[in-house]
Amino acid sequence: MSIAALTGRKILVTGVTGWVAGPLAESLASAGNTVYGAARFNDPAQRQPWHNKGVQTVSIDLENGRLDEVPADLDLVLHFAVAKSNNFAEAFAANAHGSADLMETAAQRSDKLTFFHCSSTAVYEPKHGVPRQETDLLGDSHRPMPGMPTYSISKIAGEVLVQHTAKRLGVPTVIARLNVPYGDTYGWMSFHLMMMERNIAIPVHVDQPTDYTPIHAVDIARSIPYLLSLAGTPAGIVNWGGDQIVSIEDWCGEMGRLTGLTPAFAPTTATIASIVPDVSKLRDLGFSTTIDWREGIRRQIATMRPELLKS
Ligand SMILES: NC(=O)c1ccc[n+]([C@@H]2O[C@H](COP(=O)([O-])OP(=O)(O)OC[C@H]3O[C@@H](n4cnc5c(N)ncnc54)[C@H](OP(=O)(O)O)[C@@H]3O)[C@@H](O)[C@H]2O)c1
Repeated sequence: MSIAALTGRKILVTGVTGWVAGPLAESLASAGNTVYGAARFNDPAQRQPWHNKGVQTVSIDLENGRLDEVPADLDLVLHFAVAKSNNFAEAFAANAHGSADLMETAAQRSDKLTFFHCSSTAVYEPKHGVPRQETDLLGDSHRPMPGMPTYSISKIAGEVLVQHTAKRLGVPTVIARLNVPYGDTYGWMSFHLMMMERNIAIPVHVDQPTDYTPIHAVDIARSIPYLLSLAGTPAGIVNWGGDQIVSIEDWCGEMGRLTGLTPAFAPTTATIASIVPDVSKLRDLGFSTTIDWREGIRRQIATMRPELLKS
């Protein structure tokens, strides 16, 4: 695919009720695409707000293979849905089998399909913040994090089944390994701010600084056409993050400066170690991020917790 702005396309965005996909679906709808947002929508009342934003709703259940509402003649699936489960069978069913089933169902209903699979830099074996290239060793980075025991392994399994299904069906596919997404309305740092308010020490890895490459929702949306240019068979694999390396310690310090709150840190091995993706493959396509991390943090607090802003 060439690097062209996305407009006039028929797009299914899964995980629309989640952090990353919701704002993206909204921006694609306002850019003149026909956008379907998929989640389980167990509560029908969840649907109307999306319709008000110009996003049609589709109920799917990846864990149970319920995909009958997937629309026909899609140009593009942007697959963001993820199950965060303590149970490996559930996590594999949703994140691995479900991803492959979704591709197959969409491909049976469209002969022009491109598939975008959101993966995670959680698939890498951390290496003291040394930037990880797409060919570097995979590992179980999220196992130490409370509540995330299946995450890395089921995201790896998802990649494997998506790669295999893309090859088997000839569907042009890209797998983008996202680092730390955030935006005006969501992000890991919003949890850290809540902990700072309550004087709860923030877990950071003993191997400090706990570096990442956060990428703001504005740049997430801007980067999609570049990432899609890598879609092919076999599937392209690309790291997806911002241009700046920023640690948890940095962003909590900045939130402290903006709010007057003082972060306390609790170095531990029971959390995710620093994972810095090498984003040169994405940069070589001509993409760079535009939202400086300090500006992004300020925007997030101004939107989510304006009463806390002191400077
Ligand atoms: N958040 C991060 O820091 C981060 C970092 C790197 C990569 N990523 C990747 O980015 C993508 C989006 O993550 P996120 O944090 O935005 O996710 P999220 O907020 O946890 O949302 C998960 C989404 O998946 C849907 N979902 C869960 N189980 C489902 C099932 N069985 N069938 C259909 N839909 C299901 C949820 O919908 P309902 O529950 O409403 O049905 C929801 O819309 C994921 O692929 C994730 O691995 C995230």
